[in-house]
Amino acid sequence: MASQSVATVILAAGKGTRMRSDVHKVLHPIAGKPMVGHLMDATAELEPTFEIMVVGAGRDQLQAAFPKLSLVTQDPQLGTGHAVGFARDALQGFSGAVLILYGDTPFVPAATMRAMVDALADADIVVLGFTPQDPGRYGRLILGEDGALTRIVEFKDATDAERAVTLCNSGVMAVRGDKLFQDLDQITNENAAREYYLTDLVSIVRARGGRAAVVHAEENDVLGVNSREELAKAEAIFQMRRRGEAMAQGVTLISPETVFFSHDTRLGRDVTIEPNVVFGPGVTVEDYAQIRAFSHLEGAHVGRSAIVGPYARLRPGTVLGERVKVGNFVETKKAKVADGAKINHLSYVGDASVGPRANIGAGTITCNYDGFFKYETVIGADAFIGSNTALIAPVRVGEGAIVGAGSAISKDVVDGALAITRSAQTAKPGWAARFREIMRARKEKKSA
Ligand code: UD1
Ligand code: MG
Repeated sequence: MASQSVATVILAAGKGTRMRSDVHKVLHPIAGKPMVGHLMDATAELEPTFEIMVVGAGRDQLQAAFPKLSLVTQDPQLGTGHAVGFARDALQGFSGAVLILYGDTPFVPAATMRAMVDALADADIVVLGFTPQDPGRYGRLILGEDGALTRIVEFKDATDAERAVTLCNSGVMAVRGDKLFQDLDQITNENAAREYYLTDLVSIVRARGGRAAVVHAEENDVLGVNSREELAKAEAIFQMRRRGEAMAQGVTLISPETVFFSHDTRLGRDVTIEPNVVFGPGVTVEDYAQIRAFSHLEGAHVGRSAIVGPYARLRPGTVLGERVKVGNFVETKKAKVADGAKINHLSYVGDASVGPRANIGAGTITCNYDGFFKYETVIGADAFIGSNTALIAPVRVGEGAIVGAGSAISKDVVDGALAITRSAQTAKPGWAARFREIMRARKEKKSA
């Protein structure tokens, strides 16, 4: 079938009471992105002509999160059938496919949506069904003798025989825009919940001689999030899938179940990620890099063949070049570290640029903040910063310069110089032995 125009209507007016949250349910993140954002990534692939979201409380939160989305308010909320009615004005005269989705059912794949739109070629309503492990309180899809969908019955209204049906309603539907609102007008609230059930559309369409069809989904694709527990389940599904994708693309995960990705993590080929690594948003890892155990990365770029961790923390604005090493208990923030540079142990490098091949000794700290403003540290190519150095920004250490261990550097160091700020060491031969003798004698006298 020639691709027809699509409109999406996302229902999100429910109160989300079971989340016990001040944040709108559909804005709770999965892998760092609002759950409804995952859904909208999929709908975007269908290039919808209209995208409408039906909201109740929390409209401002949603509009702030998605400024371009057209929101319509349903108040009061009298059921899913009532909710879709609020798209009427926006879809005036639209005769393409209308895809109805739930904002709290974020993982419906674009391919499934497309299959539903395509199925409208020889159907008037298409329902996304699935067979869950536990059919619980889902609406049941009732099929006729010929196997065609005849109606949907809500759990509350179902007989025991109907409840025994395992094919369930995911809630996702595709219908034709030209008849949708006429059909919706026929929905009543004569049911156990006194709600306007969208699911009644199936019988309504059939009563006027229309055909209803079912497209089947995997249970994980239609998971609905109503509680924090289900949110965690959705996160687990996302992570499981993302780990699988990473490995399929040539990334080694030694213990996949302990690695957590962000929705936007980008990984090259032959990257190795050791156990217990967490990716926040905005991380790219180039080919051959190793992310060692217990590291946390966000807003960072890791260059080709770089080694990060174990126990490293890369914060936003970190850009590591090729073969860079960032070792244990090192924190970086807004730090450009050029090819081959090493920051191997116990350091904080923030608001800094480190030249190629520079070596930053253990315990080096960039003192970038005076309580009011942040300042920059620049370290030249091939510079060597001795251990336990405080670099008091703004400060520049020149190319090839050496900073003696234990220095507090507050003035620029010119290229090739040695800078050292600690006081000269003095030595008193025999002093320690004499000291011990005196003290021992004193102690004996006291206890006598
Ligand atoms: C609905 C289906 C049920 C299906 C289940 C799948 C109906 C009548 N029932 O039941 O067959 O098995 O989903 O999860 O459709 N919403 C509004 N306005 C309202 C009511 C709901 O926008 O007035 C939104 C909610 O925010 C939610 C979605 O619609 O995103 C589903 O509503 P919900 O109350 O969860 O429906 P269920 O009773 O679970
Ligand atoms: Mg529900």
